[in-house]
Amino acid sequence: MKVLMVCLGNICRSPLGEGILKHKAEEAGLNWFVDSAGTNNYHIGEPPHKLSQKVAKLNGIDISKQMCRRFVKEDMQRFDKIYVMDNDVYCDIKSLSGSLWNKDKSDLLMNELYPGKNMDVPDPWYDAEPKYHQVFDMISKACDAIVEKYKKQNTEAA
Ligand code: 4NP
Repeated sequence: MKVLMVCLGNICRSPLGEGILKHKAEEAGLNWFVDSAGTNNYHIGEPPHKLSQKVAKLNGIDISKQMCRRFVKEDMQRFDKIYVMDNDVYCDIKSLSGSLWNKDKSDLLMNELYPGKNMDVPDPWYDAEPKYHQVFDMISKACDAIVEKYKKQNTEAA
């Protein structure tokens, strides 16, 4: 499985998504490739936001080596599943993907926890540390649901 996490800046939410899902997949013995990207180009080449790094580290996950990159339409082909953090980002990747857009591969991350509700993971960019903890918890619970779903599918297929 190749999974891509996408947000606006690839600086706050999707680096957490990448770090958390990588960590949980590894713990579950799943050999997954997990990456992240942003739909804008404001922070290309930068490491994750210091509060995302801090909250991840407090939870035993090191995301300091990640580097911001922009979503490109070829990501739609390269990845099996693309999770976006909010509804605006969903519209952005649809438009950036052009003819390569694949609706079946793309979903809001929170739909893994609350199917069909189309809930956003809030953008913490203008907020303080508590918001980053809230965002971490939301992403972490959604990643638990993803890993559980694929573990179950693997067991049923065996
Ligand atoms: P992210 O948050 O999409 O979770 O990485 C943001 C980061 C930067 C900006 C907006 C959102 N910005 O406007 O620079």
